Amino acid sequence: MTKNSDLTAFLMGGWNDEAEVSRNTARACFDAAVEAGWQGELVEMGRDIAQTLINLRPARVFNALHGVMGEDGNIQGLLNLLEIPYTHSGVLASAIAMDKCATKTALAGTGIVFAENLPLEIADDGTIRIPDSGDIVIKPRNTGSSVGVRILRQGDTSPHTQDWAAGTQLMAEAYIPGRELTVGVLHGAPLTVTEIKQHNQFYDYEAKYSAGGSSHQFPADIDPAIFDKALDWAATAHQSLECRGVSRADFRFDDATGALIMLEINTQPGMTETSLVPEQAAYKGIPMPALVASLLEAARCD
Ligand SMILES: Nc1ncnc2c1ncn2[C@@H]1O[C@H](COP(=O)(O)OP(=O)(O)O)[C@@H](O)[C@H]1O
Ligand SMILES: [Mg+2]
Repeated sequence: MTKNSDLTAFLMGGWNDEAEVSRNTARACFDAAVEAGWQGELVEMGRDIAQTLINLRPARVFNALHGVMGEDGNIQGLLNLLEIPYTHSGVLASAIAMDKCATKTALAGTGIVFAENLPLEIADDGTIRIPDSGDIVIKPRNTGSSVGVRILRQGDTSPHTQDWAAGTQLMAEAYIPGRELTVGVLHGAPLTVTEIKQHNQFYDYEAKYSAGGSSHQFPADIDPAIFDKALDWAATAHQSLECRGVSRADFRFDDATGALIMLEINTQPGMTETSLVPEQAAYKGIPMPALVASLLEAARCD
């Protein structure tokens, strides 16, 4: 396929719960790319995306998609097939990181500690039995933006699988009390540790995206040994899964026990100007236009 000179297609949207978040990421990265001297076009992801890309013939794709289809290896596979280089991770890293259970399995043996998986007992009528072992979290294995995350305390009424969208694959974890930390990784090197403080019960969708929903403290004011461990684990996860471009590892840190626990790796982290990764990059002396340009320069197929 002949390439359309130097055009970058910023892929955004789609049809999952994170479509609007993705459009915000795309617009911010598009503006930053233009500021850095790149030519781009915002392209909405529809079911006809293959035909759209064949017609547009971009030189590369900036993948600004989040969630199912955009973050899980599906769009990456299509771009490999069309031989259009793209930013961020390839098929395998995307597919593994999108599935929180597969991530734990893939990273077993690296020394990274994850939240313990609990057996999910579901009765015939769809009632989920809460184990007596303490507070638990039930969440989808493969969505993001905290969509569908529920914290259940001892004594809470049992939820039903019908409380989630049909077909949602659920998982259960022990609830990790404490603080919320996150580390961005750029081209294999960790940026810094941010502590996220929010007023809601946990870092839910509202805390993530509404104005004043949360505040970010970076570098996080935590024990230097924990700080370094978080940087090290985020880089190890990125490298072990062979992620490309940026990724972001989410953690819980339990002050009472001193335990650092990784929750997940995001291969398509939010990239608006006020998102966690651009904030950390700016703190490390990489402003948004340089950050986006470095991702575009590293665009490739698997
Ligand atoms: N095991 C857990 N213990 C405590 N809080 C959790 C746990 N799992 C998830 N959470 C809360 O829910 C948020 C979203 O969960 P996460 O696993 O990062 O999924 P995603 O961000 O992909 O929706 C976390 O940032 C955290 O606030
Ligand atoms: Mg998360």
